[in-house]
Amino acid sequence: MRKPIIAGNWKMHKTVEEAVALVREMRAALDAIETVESVVCPPFIAIPAVAEALRGSRVGVGAQNMFWAKEGAYTGEIAPGMLQGWCQYVILGHSERRQYFGETDEGVNKKVHAALAHGLTPIICVGENLEENRAGQTDAVVRRQVVAALAGLTAAQVASLVIAYEPVWAIGTGLNAEPADANRVIGLIIRGAIAELYDEATAQAVRVQYGGSTNPANIGAFMQMPDIDGALVGGASLKAANFVEMVRIAAQVRG
Ligand code: 13P
Repeated sequence: MRKPIIAGNWKMHKTVEEAVALVREMRAALDAIETVESVVCPPFIAIPAVAEALRGSRVGVGAQNMFWAKEGAYTGEIAPGMLQGWCQYVILGHSERRQYFGETDEGVNKKVHAALAHGLTPIICVGENLEENRAGQTDAVVRRQVVAALAGLTAAQVASLVIAYEPVWAIGTGLNAEPADANRVIGLIIRGAIAELYDEATAQAVRVQYGGSTNPANIGAFMQMPDIDGALVGGASLKAANFVEMVRIAAQVRG
């Protein structure tokens, strides 16, 4: 059985002080929910303070990105080893990284290998943009991104990671995908590709989230879908009451 996982991607929001205040506000309520894993992904600079504020809590901590090299002359970058001890998760290949910072499928694959080598669980983001969606290319784009991101991984490594299907047109727009459509892409295309590349057991083991304009009002419908194991939440994860409510609803539906 796959344990549902709801992760908050705070993106470029919250100072260190605001980040600590937000997790302090949520900690007790999230710790009371055992059947759904919850994770917060603050900006890099707030990660140690958030991890300290969550010491002894069941709430996980993730980074929003990292570079693949161990160390070196890479001004402005963060190495996997720097996240070790503070984070359990790292979001890789988010569409905003691909769109604004030139990330490629090949680069995402290098980061996935580096994360796993450092004991970090990748949350790999895939998803088609509006143009690709309108052109009927959703399945091909998502399949290509999944195959590229997983290149060279063992079945056991694939089974251990998390994939987030985030249609780019649904991110921050208030226009979420239809839960049944997201479930089709996740079940047929994402798990389908993994079953082909590896085997059915691996395809059934990997946890796959939906992301894109999720909120307390629609999370229940996504959680009712058999192939959707949770959500990668943007805007709604910035308010304690919203994020806690989403984890609660997920636990009610699937816990
Ligand atoms: P929103 O929930 O704000 O649409 O963001 C989704 C997202 O990009 C999470 O990574």
